[in-house]
Amino acid sequence: MTYARIIGTGSYLPEKVMTNEELATFVDTSDAWIRERSGIGQRHIAAEGETTVDLAEHASRRAIEAAGLQPEDIDLIVMATTTPDQVFPSSACLLQARLGNVGSPAFDIQAVCSGFVYALSVADQFVRNGSAKRALVIGAETFTRILNWEDRTTCVLFGDGAGAVVLEASEEQGILSTHLHADGRYSECLHVPPGVSQGYQAVLEGRAWVEMKGSEVFRMAVAKMGEVVEEALEANGLNREELDWLIPHQANIRIIKATARKLHMSMDKVVLTVEHHGNTSAASIPLALDAAVRDGRVQRGQLLMLEAFGGGFTWGSALLRY
Ligand code: COA
Repeated sequence: MTYARIIGTGSYLPEKVMTNEELATFVDTSDAWIRERSGIGQRHIAAEGETTVDLAEHASRRAIEAAGLQPEDIDLIVMATTTPDQVFPSSACLLQARLGNVGSPAFDIQAVCSGFVYALSVADQFVRNGSAKRALVIGAETFTRILNWEDRTTCVLFGDGAGAVVLEASEEQGILSTHLHADGRYSECLHVPPGVSQGYQAVLEGRAWVEMKGSEVFRMAVAKMGEVVEEALEANGLNREELDWLIPHQANIRIIKATARKLHMSMDKVVLTVEHHGNTSAASIPLALDAAVRDGRVQRGQLLMLEAFGGGFTWGSALLRY
């Protein structure tokens, strides 16, 4: 049986850090409020002119290097982003031109904060059915570009960043299952209302901003993040005690803690990075995974549960043997 196995991880955060204190100098908020309600201490902000593809390129090169490969060894690029550089071509194509592995398929996936799990699931199918041997999967965002800095209920929560993994076809166990879900009836709970086909004006005027019904998002996120973990364990005949690490979407520490409580999982088994970069949407899971791989927490052979929830609503899991 062929599995898609993670053979390299990489991530990148823009240089500029904005602390809660700095944010509180121009938004009516405080470090104490942001930390208590979200667990966020700071976020990274892309420099002027620095784009999603720039962040993705750094993370990708690090993942490819960690895999011991060259960019030309990659035969598929799947990139999750909500904040692409251009309307078209896809950010994956722009990235491919920089990496130089031309000719192989490259495309974007849009599932907001669940984007990385969606992209991983798609790449996993390509690898398992033999269509790709080495896939680069990226989550990259410049989410701060779509924030209304006068809306304190949203702007304090998000940041920019990128994370990537290289998957390789292997006889050894890798991704064991992915489960994806969506319920489009909730689209207005978390969205950026303007877009291309509705007329471009708001986008051109820089008013294409995130709007969110925070408490509805919170409730659904806790419910669905718990459900997907149970679903994946049941599908694989595993108990939650067998999991070595839960690597959840890093949106909010209270959502993560409530999910862990629901699952009776100790927070010692949860990878947490939200304090350092806030909610980086599709980038958050590969950022957390890369941090835990590089600091030695995640070891070869361990069982990892990745889980995400985001706008759409979308949610999903990936269970894998690292
Ligand atoms: N600083 C200070 N006060 C703030 C604030 C801020 N940044 N944002 C909101 N407040 C105020 C509100 O105006 C409200 O004041 P009021 O009681 O005088 O009306 C008070 O804080 C409480 O607001 P509320 O919205 O009830 O807070 P909450 O405990 O629900 O926390 C969120 C708000 C957004 C942190 C929380 O709902 C949440 O985490 N939701 C999920 C968000 C998320 O993760 N989204 C992405 C998912 S992918």
